[in-house]
Amino acid sequence: MTLLSTISIPRALGAAVVFFLSRTVITKAISIYSTVRAFNKSVTPYAGILWLHPFRSVALVSGPWFPSRSHIGSFYKTFAPYKNRGSTAVASVLFRNSIPTIWLADPQGIQTVAGEAVLFQKDIDAYGALNFYGQNLIGVEGSDWRRHRKVAKSAFNETGNAFVWAETIRAVNEWFAHLDAAQVHEKQPIIVDAAKDLLQLALIVISSAGFGRRASWTQNASTVAPPGHLMAFGPAVFAAVDHLHTKVLTPGWLYTLSERFDIPVVGRVVRDTVYAYEALQRHIMELVSLSRAWVVEGKVASMDAGLLRNLVEANMALQDDEDAPKGSPNAFKSLTEDELLSNSFAFLLAGHETTAHSLSFAVGFLALHPEAQRKIYEEALLLWPDGTPTSASTSSYKECMPKLPYTTAVFHETIRLFPAVVRLSKLVHADATIPAQRFTTNASGKVDLDSIRDTTVHVKTGSMVMLDIFALHQNPICWGPDATEFKPERFIDTESYRWPRDAFVAFSAGPRNCIGQRFALTESVCFLASLVRTYEISVPATLRGKSFEEQKRVMLDWTPGVTMVPNNCVVSLTRR
Ligand code: HEM
Ligand SMILES: *[C@@H]1O[C@H](CO)[C@@H](O)[C@H](O)[C@H]1NC(C)=O
Ligand SMILES: *[C@@H]1O[C@H](CO)[C@@H](O)[C@H](O)[C@H]1NC(C)=O
Ligand SMILES: *[C@@H]1O[C@H](CO)[C@@H](O)[C@H](O)[C@H]1NC(C)=O
Ligand SMILES: *[C@@H]1O[C@H](CO)[C@@H](O)[C@H](O)[C@H]1NC(C)=O
Repeated sequence: MTLLSTISIPRALGAAVVFFLSRTVITKAISIYSTVRAFNKSVTPYAGILWLHPFRSVALVSGPWFPSRSHIGSFYKTFAPYKNRGSTAVASVLFRNSIPTIWLADPQGIQTVAGEAVLFQKDIDAYGALNFYGQNLIGVEGSDWRRHRKVAKSAFNETGNAFVWAETIRAVNEWFAHLDAAQVHEKQPIIVDAAKDLLQLALIVISSAGFGRRASWTQNASTVAPPGHLMAFGPAVFAAVDHLHTKVLTPGWLYTLSERFDIPVVGRVVRDTVYAYEALQRHIMELVSLSRAWVVEGKVASMDAGLLRNLVEANMALQDDEDAPKGSPNAFKSLTEDELLSNSFAFLLAGHETTAHSLSFAVGFLALHPEAQRKIYEEALLLWPDGTPTSASTSSYKECMPKLPYTTAVFHETIRLFPAVVRLSKLVHADATIPAQRFTTNASGKVDLDSIRDTTVHVKTGSMVMLDIFALHQNPICWGPDATEFKPERFIDTESYRWPRDAFVAFSAGPRNCIGQRFALTESVCFLASLVRTYEISVPATLRGKSFEEQKRVMLDWTPGVTMVPNNCVVSLTRR
């Protein structure tokens, strides 16, 4: 070995590394530059690079800090990036693969994309995370999606809604009893962490109305697991939801590794995750086998939890049909065992997190807006002069819902400003056009209504469209210059005003909209009317004396998660 060769080998290696690195950087820069150049800037002004895929778990985890709040990829930005560029459609590019991504805060644009289920498809890779146990309605596309949707659909009819109403009445009464029991002196305010209690309440409602599992309020984390189980039902669902991020982000090999070796911290988290999902699976299997027995015994008519019944019947249809040729009629309304389990989990999750978080923000708003609370109280007092009923008959839903229009408006206004699902991504499957608008703003930053003109965005196969629900809900062209303020009246039609239906997409729109929309509305209106009829809600003592803006900032603060998570929605309740 000569001295020369010992020096030149590392040098040559170094040069090679530098060469390949710079080649990668240059190639990347060129591909991003050419994507950006291809945007028609007179239609979709450029708003920046997306360093993270806005619809992947990493973005959810980093959401609170990165990207910064003014960046197009941030969960927190509302209409500002659109206003600053004078367009309801703006362009960006995904760093990872240079895919062009159009962000929409346009009512017609979003309705067009959501309405075209073939041209624009759900970005199902983003939901791969939710497909554990197997595939479910939330994470499938095409003919599989039609099959799953058809199985579940009929459970969300008016009979189902009446049952949701009755179960909500039962759950709120249990909650009230629990609150009163914890109270030392009558008429003394009770401090309640709304987000925490409402998760439990919404879980009770979906498990009984959807799955016939009459969970009760006292069944909490300190409750021991029933025989044959690892955890009690409620704690198992919460643990699974809590570990959703770990479940999503953990690669398979890490599971195997942490089973064999004791990895500090990570190992424990992974093991807890596996445990939680195993615990939940046992509960779901138990519900399924109970329900199967009912179907076999022909007791179907007396089984009120239509959702689980539909799922179980679809699974049994498949078993009956095992020898039938492919494509036989039964295949259309069938589910495999894995799909049955996966859908059960998906409905438990989708059916409680979204609703609970939305209701927490509603409770926060009511504490901040006594005038809105008074209007709900007046409605509820007329309906229930003797106080919130302790049980509901099958006709209560039909009689009560239409008598609570202001309560309904409060719920809608809450999810306009705090849409649990902030944005949705759709993949473009064929070249298409999407309507949008351009406009100018005047010196005080207000949209000049005379300047608005319609434009057309051209999108190519393989690009991505982000439906920016949060931004559309604060678009001043649709909602007026006071779009950022809480005004439930804007959801009440008058002779000269009809609220802009197209600009409200908290439940998405088109064929792939939220299947549980009416379920959520029924539960929420029933809950809000009962709560306000029974208690007066106010800001906690710690915030009294602070400015309205400060109270609002603290109480309505949130973090991005699977849905918008309220951070400190603590209120004070006083029995009326
Ligand atoms: C305030 C409460 C709720 C909000 C804001 C909400 C919002 C949404 C949104 C935006 C979507 C579209 C998601 C996407 O395209 O990726 C969706 C879908 C869905 N929601 Fe909800 N949801 C709520 C309550 C519920 C409830 C109570 C249930 C069940 C009981 C439910 C079950 C579902 C299911 C299964 C889907 C997937 C439907 C499909 O892909 O065909 N949601 N929801
Ligand atoms: C960009 O869009 C405008 C308005 O639709 C159109 O007039 C113009 O021709 C387009 N430019 C290119 C390069 O496609
Ligand atoms: C509603 O759905 C349930 C369960 O799928 C079904 O038994 C019932 O007949 C339906 N009711 C109406 C009014 O369609
Ligand atoms: C949890 O359950 C235990 C036992 O049933 C009960 O004593 C306790 O008050 C419950 N706590 C909450 C917060 O519900
Ligand atoms: C900007 O427009 C708004 C709404 O049209 C108007 O109220 C405001 O006075 C205007 N401001 C200026 C500086 O022109």
